[in-house]
This record gives sequence, C-alpha cells and structure tokens, in this order.
Amino acid sequence: MNYRHAFHVANVGDVLKHMVLIQVLAHLRAKAKPFAVIDTHAGAGAYDLAGPASSRTGEWRGGLGRLLGAPGAPDAVRAYLDQVGAVQGEFGPTMYPGSPLLAARLLRPGDRLVAVERHPEEHAALDDLLGRAPGVTVRDGDGYAALTALLPPPERRGLILMDPPFEDRAEYQAMAAALTRAHRRFATGVFLLWYPIKDPGAVAMLHQMLEDSGIPRVLAVDLTVRPTTRLAGMAGCGLILVNPPWRLDETLRDALPWLAARLEVEPGAGRWQVDWLRGED
Ligand SMILES: C[S@@+](CC[C@H](N)C(=O)[O-])C[C@H]1O[C@@H](n2cnc3c(N)ncnc32)[C@H](O)[C@@H]1O
Repeated sequence: MNYRHAFHVANVGDVLKHMVLIQVLAHLRAKAKPFAVIDTHAGAGAYDLAGPASSRTGEWRGGLGRLLGAPGAPDAVRAYLDQVGAVQGEFGPTMYPGSPLLAARLLRPGDRLVAVERHPEEHAALDDLLGRAPGVTVRDGDGYAALTALLPPPERRGLILMDPPFEDRAEYQAMAAALTRAHRRFATGVFLLWYPIKDPGAVAMLHQMLEDSGIPRVLAVDLTVRPTTRLAGMAGCGLILVNPPWRLDETLRDALPWLAARLEVEPGAGRWQVDWLRGED
C-alpha cells in the first residue's frame, strides 16, 4: 500500500481516464432514469497540483499541462477541461479532481456514487471531501470485495470504475477476475477499467483474458506517448470498456489523434488504438 495518487495526478493516465469517465457519465445523464456509480479504487478525491507530491514528480505537466490553452481540442477533451476548470473555480486554481469528485459533481438528485478507498489517509481525505455530499457513500476496505455486495445496483443502470494502483503485475489478472465476477452480477452495466502500458506482454495477456472470458461488447483503448521499447517508466495507458455508450468508440477515434500528438514526448512517439476485443454475441 505504498501507492499515493498525488504523485501521478493529472498525468497522461488521468487525462485519458477522466476524459472517458466524463463521456460515460454524460451518456448516463442523457436518460431520466437514475444511475449508480461504483468507484472501486477512489483515491483522495481532490489533489493540489502545487502541493509537494505533485510538484516533486511534475507528472501533471506532461498530461493536463500540455492541454491547457492548446488550440483545436476535440469535444471530448474540451468537456474534460471544462470539468477541471469548474473544479478549479470552486476549489482553487491549482486543484485537480479525482474520479469520485468528477462523478459526484455529475450526479443528479436520485443518482448514487459509492466510492471505495482502502488506504486510511486517502480514505480520510475522501470522506472529508465527499462523505456528506448528496447521493455519495464513502467506504473503506477492498474495492473488488465491495462489488459483490453492491451488485447489481437497485437502479439496474450504472458504471463501475476499476482503477487499482498496479503495484505489481498480478493486478492485471486480479482486475480481469474482478470484472468477470462483477459482470456475472450486472451484465448490463458499463465497466471502465484503467491499466498502465509498461510491458506490452502484460497488456496482451489482459486482452487475451478478456477475450477468453466470454464477456461481449468489450472495447480496448490505448494511448502511448513514448516508445514501449524503453524500459523506464510508463509508455502510456489503456482502458477497457464493457458496454460502452453508443458511439463512444467514434468519439474516441476523433479525440485520440489530437491527444496523442499533444502528449507525445518526442515527435512520432504518440500512438493510439480503439479496438473491439469482442463485439455483440
Ligand atoms: C490509481 S489510484 C485511484 C485514482 C482515482 N480513481 C482517480 O482517478 O482519481 C488507486 C487507489 O486505490 C487505492 N487502493 C489500493 N488498493 C485498494 C483496494 N484493494 N481497494 C480499494 N482501494 C485500494 C490506493 O490507495 C489508491 O488511492
């Protein structure tokens, strides 16, 4: 439990994940029926980009920092920057929203968010921030274990976000297993899973596990900003979406070329992919 998200906040991984999270929430909000969001690895909820952890790594400068003020941003990127700007207007100009704060701000009366965080300090910060917010429940403990009790949600509509810290390679298998169990309980839910791209073999294994799982409607989205052949650090990140909203694949094919070009660390290094691992059965 060494991972602290403050060191990595607003980096390339957060940009892709939070941009897609906002798209999925917009889709859920398009129908009047209430929805539930379950964030299994929620983090602290808000981070100061000028704070010691974020300043020490400066990772946000390679993510959000490269998008601020850039001309020609596609709609999905603009929607993401608008949400970040709204949070900065409310909480302060150097603050950045984590996934539970983004979700909480987009709940309507009757919608719910359950945010699970195991690290005691991160949980305490999250509880201070959102513990009394309307529609929000903050829980401690293991996020994957919580899913068993929480699924299916009574609303029968919703999003499950799985964003574990990937402190070791076994996390890819743990996440695929958690998805398979959760999907058995809530096959119509939207699932959004995040993973780092460091070792292409681990990503290929994750994709194979998901193809073998028999789960239909699985979209894989990858964004890399430095060559994967370099051993140091994260080359980029990926998302798995199960039951993605209609036309989200097209929205992402529109946004990712621009994002890859803005975020690449050297000319030509930016790469992206949007592929269906499995379509409808
Ligand atoms: C990548 S961060 C989450 C970032 C957050 N989803 C966001 O986008 O703002 C992963 C978080 O999972 C927490 N965590 C680690 N193991 C966990 C577990 N088994 N259950 C729930 N949370 C866990 C870590 O403390 C960390 O805060």
